[in-house]
Amino acid sequence: MASTCVVGLQWGDEAKGKIVDLLCDEHDVVVRYQGGANAGHTVVAEGVTYKLSLVPTGILRKHVDCLIGNGVVIHPPALLKEVQTLSSQGVDLAGRLHISDRSHVILPYHLEEERLTEESSSSADHIGTTRRGIGPCYRDKVGRVHGIRVGDLYHPEFFRERLARAVDYKNRLLSAMLDSYTPIDASAVATEYLGYAEQLRPFVRDTTSWIHDAQAQGKRLLFEGAQGSLLDVDHGSYPYVTSSNSSSAGITPGTGMPTRHIDRWIGVVKAYTTRVGGGPFPTELDNEIGERIRRIGREYGTVTGRPRRCGWFDAVAARYSSRISGSTEIALMLLDVLSGLPEIRVAVAYEDSSGNCVESMPGHLADLERCHPIFETLPGWSEDITSCRTWASLPENAKQYVRFIAKQMQIPVSIVSVGPDREATLRVE
Ligand code: IMP
Repeated sequence: MASTCVVGLQWGDEAKGKIVDLLCDEHDVVVRYQGGANAGHTVVAEGVTYKLSLVPTGILRKHVDCLIGNGVVIHPPALLKEVQTLSSQGVDLAGRLHISDRSHVILPYHLEEERLTEESSSSADHIGTTRRGIGPCYRDKVGRVHGIRVGDLYHPEFFRERLARAVDYKNRLLSAMLDSYTPIDASAVATEYLGYAEQLRPFVRDTTSWIHDAQAQGKRLLFEGAQGSLLDVDHGSYPYVTSSNSSSAGITPGTGMPTRHIDRWIGVVKAYTTRVGGGPFPTELDNEIGERIRRIGREYGTVTGRPRRCGWFDAVAARYSSRISGSTEIALMLLDVLSGLPEIRVAVAYEDSSGNCVESMPGHLADLERCHPIFETLPGWSEDITSCRTWASLPENAKQYVRFIAKQMQIPVSIVSVGPDREATLRVE
């Protein structure tokens, strides 16, 4: 009876969805605990392409229940669109999708507030967000005065009053700050959102109580982190982070479930590193090797389509985030993308501006920006490894690379992925 946590240990897009999909056979419930529609997965199953963002990919497995915890922020039209598309594709969600009544709601002014900061004249203010209103919604949640939760939508009087106060405040602020701002009509938004609430009603419940009951009944839970641990608002490369605890630190606040019930902690990394949006990236490759990784790895954002920044594997950053997320084993993804490179480099430490060797990730942006990676160079392999299905069949240099990553991270690599298909996965021996 094992419950599992799967989190990315880099800046997101580590192909966690594939690991979650592989583990679904051994679990009964997949749980999202933070983030919102800033995450995105495309899953191809039996020839059908499914695009998922808020709904966990586990929904494609009939025996799996999916839970969207209180730590997630929900844009109801986006969620409903996903629900409707899935239903039209024949996925039965009834009784299987559980949305927390304590999760916070993204409202139209959150999108405007994000436009304000992301389009501000000072480039220092730009995070390079996905513009889904995630940050402003979390800001209101923590600020308390204007936060609106899914449960509020089922108390129409309370909701209308609270929304009217929030809209009045936001309209005054945004009209003063934005040149092109059309004030929001609180009553129209309330009516619109109450309509969404009716459509979402079958899925909304007290998920805290639901998940505790499920655990007590022996159900095996799979906690799925969105984004990556280096984007964690507390432990990531602040301020170039997302607004939630995207490391495993978000599980308890985002679900109400203590982590003592989790037995397996899988950290997912790519065989190289990518990042979308702004922020420091010590091993970034702004050259033809980075281009090649982007092309072969199809490194373009699933939500925004932005090209991802690509670079070598950064063992300093991954070691740091694996500590934060408590990983005890590694899933190493996209190893096939590195095939054909004569040499592969891995950052094993940083050097700061005074020439000192730094082995742990600096907390301050300015210190991190001044660090240069110290690389070790490993020989590459020329063989196409996408059809390898066993550890023994991997070229010796690929095995050496995997062993090197494990040694650097001080944790075993248990799974290696050599292609997007479910079958393109090896267990490390
Ligand atoms: P936000 O989450 O939209 O506020 O964006 C904050 C930062 O997190 C930006 O650098 C985004 O590019 C990044 N980010 C958010 N979601 C993802 C994701 O799913 N994958 C990779 N980066 C992400």
